[in-house]
Amino acid sequence: MNLSVPQLQALVHAATLAPSSHNTQPWLFRLEDQAIELLADRTRALPVNDPDDRELTISCGCALFNLRVAAAAAGLQAQVEPWPDAADGDLLARVHLLPTGSGQDVAALQAAMGERRTYRERFAATAVDPTALRSLMDAVHSEDAMLAVLDTADQRLGAAALVAEGDAMLWANPSWRRELAAWMHPRRRGDGLTLPALAVPVAQMVVRTFDMGHGVAAKDRQLADESPVLAVLTTVCDSPRDWLAAGQALQRLLLLGVQLGLQASYLNQPVQVATLRPKLQQITGRPGHAQLLLRIGVPTQTLPAAARRPLADVLVTAS
Ligand SMILES: Cc1cc2nc3c(=O)[nH]c(=O)nc-3n(C[C@H](O)[C@H](O)[C@H](O)COP(=O)(O)O)c2cc1C
Repeated sequence: MNLSVPQLQALVHAATLAPSSHNTQPWLFRLEDQAIELLADRTRALPVNDPDDRELTISCGCALFNLRVAAAAAGLQAQVEPWPDAADGDLLARVHLLPTGSGQDVAALQAAMGERRTYRERFAATAVDPTALRSLMDAVHSEDAMLAVLDTADQRLGAAALVAEGDAMLWANPSWRRELAAWMHPRRRGDGLTLPALAVPVAQMVVRTFDMGHGVAAKDRQLADESPVLAVLTTVCDSPRDWLAAGQALQRLLLLGVQLGLQASYLNQPVQVATLRPKLQQITGRPGHAQLLLRIGVPTQTLPAAARRPLADVLVTAS
């Protein structure tokens, strides 16, 4: 059974709804008759914020999980072959699409793909149901990662302090600010952190020129303090394979969260600063490698979807 191009394109469209750091959308897809290849687009890397392409690979892992969800919802079995070509480090996965039924629990996440948002607003002052939290932890575990919920006051205060310290260190670095400014785009660009077109030049100039670490740190510390759930997504090792797994685990958590009435966002500063990363892991009280610091809660408003590039820009023709 060969899949039609529109069928394959529908799966890729779903993949592109995934989150990515700075909304770089660092992925490309190559269509085959019964498979889709996922490639890292390293021209969209963030060398200052993410020198090892760790977050880039996590972002691609999120897209890979969306591809699995869309395939399952279309009644296909998606068999993932990670790094199928040892000579090509950009070819992250070949996803074989088999007409042999689907995983129902994964297929059920289909509707959540279009409703998920990075929710940077304050959450409702409502606790997250412990059963829901348990299912999020199980979802992450099923993708070979762990979710360490920071539930003691010491853990939460410690993480919030690291977020503030991370903000101060990142903003003090002019190269980091220049890179951030370069990804502030008007919506019509279809990628990056979107701002109204008229505001872009001024915002870019301000970010490039001024160290706003102090103000951002205070705001982020408050977001961390009052977050209903603060949790670290961790992996046992810290290789590209772990990052791809972390991405799939993240997206599974985010989509299941939406299904349970939750949204999430990131306070990754302590993971992005090399000297703070082991300290964050230490706060979890477990061995492993911190990949993401998440805040999770009940949203109070529906946010518009972030911009995405047109499908044609992420498709590469088979050679
Ligand atoms: C690996 C990864 C790291 C991210 N880090 C941050 C972050 O530190 N701060 C933040 O506000 N958003 C972060 N984001 C969210 C992206 O900015 C967001 O996914 C993107 O702007 C697209 O918006 P959407 O998720 O609402 O579709 C991250 C996303 C991913 C996948």
